[in-house]
Amino acid sequence: MCGIVGYIGNKKTQDVLLNGLKDLEYRGYDSAGIALLEQDNIEVCKAVGKVDNLRNELKKINNKNYKIGIGHTRWATHGKPTYENAHPHLGEYSYVVHNGIIENYKQIKEELLKDGHIFISQTDTEVIVHLFENYNNKLNNIKEAFKKTIKKLKGAYSILLITKEHKNKIFFFKSGSPLIVAKGKEKGEVLFSSTDSPLIGLSNDVVYLEDEVGGIASSKGIEFFNDNYKWSTLPTSKESAQKDGFDFFMEKEIYEQSDVSNDCMIGRLQDDEILFDEIDSNILEDINEIKLCACGTSYHAALASSYLFERLSKIRTSVEIASEFRYKKPLLSKQTLFIVVSQSGETADSLEALKMAKKEGLKTLVICNANNSSMTRLANISILARAGIEKGVASTKAFSTQTIVLWMISLYFAKIKNNISKEKLAEEIQTLRQVPKALIVNNTIHEKIKRLSKRYLHGHGFFFIGRDIFFPLALEGALKLKEISYLHAEGYPAGEMKHGPIALVDSELFTIALMPQNLLYDKIKSNVEELSARDSTICTISPLNFDLSDDFIKTQKAKHYMLEFFEMLVVLQLLSLEIAIRLKNDVDMPRNLAKSVTVE
Ligand code: G6P
Repeated sequence: MCGIVGYIGNKKTQDVLLNGLKDLEYRGYDSAGIALLEQDNIEVCKAVGKVDNLRNELKKINNKNYKIGIGHTRWATHGKPTYENAHPHLGEYSYVVHNGIIENYKQIKEELLKDGHIFISQTDTEVIVHLFENYNNKLNNIKEAFKKTIKKLKGAYSILLITKEHKNKIFFFKSGSPLIVAKGKEKGEVLFSSTDSPLIGLSNDVVYLEDEVGGIASSKGIEFFNDNYKWSTLPTSKESAQKDGFDFFMEKEIYEQSDVSNDCMIGRLQDDEILFDEIDSNILEDINEIKLCACGTSYHAALASSYLFERLSKIRTSVEIASEFRYKKPLLSKQTLFIVVSQSGETADSLEALKMAKKEGLKTLVICNANNSSMTRLANISILARAGIEKGVASTKAFSTQTIVLWMISLYFAKIKNNISKEKLAEEIQTLRQVPKALIVNNTIHEKIKRLSKRYLHGHGFFFIGRDIFFPLALEGALKLKEISYLHAEGYPAGEMKHGPIALVDSELFTIALMPQNLLYDKIKSNVEELSARDSTICTISPLNFDLSDDFIKTQKAKHYMLEFFEMLVVLQLLSLEIAIRLKNDVDMPRNLAKSVTVE
C-alpha cells in the first residue's frame, strides 16, 4: 500500500504534492519522492523515510515554479526501503509512480534486459517506465505506447507517468489499486490522489476511477480511454476522508481485509504453484521441526498456522509466547526452523526471542508487516504480510494476512517435502483464491451484529469457544473483545469447557460458539449443548441452524473450513467493534494498550 499524487496547474507544484503526500503518509513511509517537469528539465527529488525528509531535501534543489508533477510515498513490497527503490522511477526520458504490485514484472524485466534496458532498483515498478519507453521507441506513438504498456501489466496497480516527450501531460491508469482524478478549483488545474483526503479544499469534482480506466490529463482537459467514469462531488471532512468515511480506523481496516488479502497473495499464487521469491527451495534441508514465536494477535495467527504446518506440511510444529520463551531456558536444536510472527517487527519480546534463536544458530524466518523493521533486518528470511499500515490498536487485517501467508508457507513446505498430492495442492490454492471473497463484510450480518450487540453489554463474562484451528480463532475473538470493550472474555477449546470452566456457566455468562460445518461440527455441537443445558446465553456463528442458541449469526456455506474461518473472523471483529461502540469506548486507541510494545 503506497500513496500517489499528481498535479497540473499554476500553484507551486512541489508544495501541492508535498501536502498531498503528507496526507497519504499513513499508507506508507519507507521513502517518498517527487518528479517535476518543466520544458526539457525533469527535476527529481527522493528521500528515505518520511515525507518531512523529502521536504528537507527539496529545499536543496532549485525553487522554480513547475507546472506539472507526480509524487509517491512508499510502503515497500519489492525491494528494501532504500533511495534506489524510492519512486518515482526513471527510464531514459520518463518517470512513473505506482501503487500496487506488478505480478509479471520478472518476465517483463527479462525481456527488457535483452533489449538493452538498464535497471537500477529492485522494484517491480521500474519495469513500467522501461516498458513504456520500449514501446514508444518502437511505435513513436506515446498514447499507443502507454496503452500497450497497460495491456501487458498483470496485478493490481494504479500509476501516474510523465514524459519529456509530452511535457504538459500526466498519463494515468487504475487497475485494482485506488486512484482519483480531480478538477482543481482554478481553471486548468488537474489533481490525482490515492484517496480523497489530499484533494479536500482543492477540488469539488472528482472521478473515483473504476478498474481498467485510464487516460491522459493536461491543463486543457482530461481524456479518458473509455466511458466508464462519472464525476462526483468530493466530501468536505478531511478526518472522515482519512478513514474512508468510516467512523473508526478499526472498522475501515476490517472492511479492507478483502483487498489486502488479494495484495498478500499477488505474485505468490501462480496457477497450481505457490511461489516465494524470498525462500530458497533448500530451506528445509536438515530441518525436522518448526517453532513459531509471537505475542498478542500475532501469536494467535502463529497458533492457527501450527494446525496447518502439521496437517499439510507434515512437519512437527510448536508455538511459543515470546515473553515465556525468553526465560524458560528453551532447548533449541539447529534442525528447527524458527518463525517469528509480528505486525510491527518491533515488539520487544518477539525481537529478543528472534535474537536468541539466531544466536543459537537456528535458521530464522519472520512474517512481518513492516519491511524496514528491526526483525526484518535481523532474520535470515523475511516475508511481508502486505496488510498496509494498520492504525487501529486492535489488530485486524494484520491477523488475516499473517494467517494467509502462513497457510501459503505451509503448502509451500508441503510441496518441498513431497507431502502433498498435486490434486490436494491445487484444491488448497483454489481455496486460497476464494479468501478475499470470504473476507468481504456482509452488510446484512453487520446490521444484525449492530442490533444484537446491545444484549452483550453486561453479564459477568464471555467464553469464545472453538475446536481445532477455530480454537485460536476463538482466542482472537476474545482478545478483540477484551481490548476494545474492556469486558472479560476468554477463548477456550470447546472440548475443554467441561474440565473446569463450565462451573462458571449461568444465564449471565455469554458463550460465543464457532460452529463451522466443515470441521468437527458434531463434536462442537455436543459441547455447546452441554453449555445450553447449564443455561449459558449462547450466540452461535455457523452456516447450520442451531435451535439451542439465543442468538444466531448465519454464515455462508463453504466447501473448505478455512473459508469459514475467515468469514467467522470478520464476524468476531465486528461483534467486538459494535459492543465497544455501544459502550462508547475509544475503539482505535483503547485504554492501557499500545500498537507496538517495544518494552519488555
Ligand atoms: C501489542 C498490540 C497487539 C499486537 C501485539 C504484538 O500488544 O496491542 O495488537 O498483537 O502487540 O504485536 P506485533 O507487532 O509483534 O504483532
